[in-house]
Amino acid sequence: MSLRKKIKEILASDQKDYEVVINGWVRTFRNNQFIAVNDGSTIHTLQVVIDKDSLTEDEIKKINTGAAIKAQGTVVESQGSGQKVEIKASQVTILGEADPSKYPLQPKRHSLEFLREIAHLRFRTNTFGAVFRVRHSIAFAIHKFFNDKGFYYLHTPIITGSDAEGAGEMFQVTTLDLKNIPLTNDNEINFKEDFFNKATNLTVSGQLEAELGALALTDVYTFGPTFRAENSNTSRHLAEFWMIEPEMAFADLNDDMDLAEELLKYVIQYCIDQNPDDLDFLEERLTQEESQKPQIERSEMKLIEKLKFCVENDFERLTYTEAIRILMNSKPNKKKKFQYVIEEWGTDLQSEHERYLVEKHFKKPVILTDYPKEIKAFYMRLNEDDTTVRAMDILFPGIGEIVGGSQREERLDVLLERMKAFDIPAEEMDWFLDTRRYGTCEHAGFGLGLERLVQFITGMSNIRDVIPFPRFPGNAEF
Ligand code: 4AD
Ligand code: MG
Repeated sequence: MSLRKKIKEILASDQKDYEVVINGWVRTFRNNQFIAVNDGSTIHTLQVVIDKDSLTEDEIKKINTGAAIKAQGTVVESQGSGQKVEIKASQVTILGEADPSKYPLQPKRHSLEFLREIAHLRFRTNTFGAVFRVRHSIAFAIHKFFNDKGFYYLHTPIITGSDAEGAGEMFQVTTLDLKNIPLTNDNEINFKEDFFNKATNLTVSGQLEAELGALALTDVYTFGPTFRAENSNTSRHLAEFWMIEPEMAFADLNDDMDLAEELLKYVIQYCIDQNPDDLDFLEERLTQEESQKPQIERSEMKLIEKLKFCVENDFERLTYTEAIRILMNSKPNKKKKFQYVIEEWGTDLQSEHERYLVEKHFKKPVILTDYPKEIKAFYMRLNEDDTTVRAMDILFPGIGEIVGGSQREERLDVLLERMKAFDIPAEEMDWFLDTRRYGTCEHAGFGLGLERLVQFITGMSNIRDVIPFPRFPGNAEF
């Protein structure tokens, strides 16, 4: 039987005086005797106490920060403070050295900007270990939530010919020779000669295909990478991000909001339960980061308190029209403190407006519904008033929009009208329209941006620090 155990398992158990083997990376080495080892299973290190005589001088010199080691020994009660147990090692093997004159991750504080440049090594820091363990918990909890509710996980295509959001922010996919592009008689690019015999792009959303699935399986969800070639260099945008898109047949906008609120609360609670040590560490990190900021920019609640608050309170639900009224009467709007002052009903909300509503006015998550039809996508269900659509956005403190969704336009004639208004050629969307021709029904869904949720739960302020290898304008490193 293998003696090997993960560090998390050893630290979680009260058992003592048994033989184990551990593998991990050296964090620090003190007094030529105490090695703090981390294997990524937990934020904590395990102290390995070596018997100096069992190693040669040469081997001891190789025990440096970053080196991979294997240790065999007995788990004993720790003599020092700070840990319950430690390993009294009978054998230590250096598996992979890390030259201290070159290894960039020495045990000191590194800036997040620096760590982004060495994203291939940043997993080995406490911060990024914690972030990616929490990210895993979030992803797992999402699948569990939907599975337990009887939703089917649907894999929608990554390469597609459609622009679901109609926003035109797409990455083209082609195998055409860019130095010798085939042209049609009208001097247009001849995509008939391309790999798929048509123009294709990376998906911006799996929604349209998810709708097709829902209109047969009733409840489905997608969970995959999505791509947007929007040139936004912000702390909340990525060019490649992961989106969760549930779609429910026989459901309206209220069902949609209920599902989204329940999902968010479930996932946050799951992390509170499963990642207490990581969240404690991230809370401390955030508190330190915020102590550098002026008082008014600091959040009123600590990280875990904020997460609990979110789970325990109902989200505030109101219409876009009500929100506009609040914003137009707000101090920053009247005093022209907003960068984009709101002059009239119909304007799209900027993140400064969203954050005002959430952080200053309601001080809790907010769901805005019934937006003007002009500023939302073609597929959203038109209201009786003919001017607003059954849309909903969920706004979170510190994040802004975390979820965007809607009840879908299930009426063929209205949908065709809407497509015409948006200049979307109906012949290319025949497959989508077929669901409205045959067995159409009320249905609704939403998209949750995974990275924005990871940001909220971990308290990381930049979205580039919650995905292993971020893609943004000018960067596709690794
Ligand atoms: O609001 P969006 O564009 O909605 C859709 O794509 C719909 N088709 C979803 C649906 O109804 N099935 O995007 C949904 C969410 C946003 O609320 C945001 O959390 C995230 O995706 N998102 C981004 N996250 C990171 N970087 C970007 N560039 C993002 N764009 C959207
Ligand atoms: Mg949106």
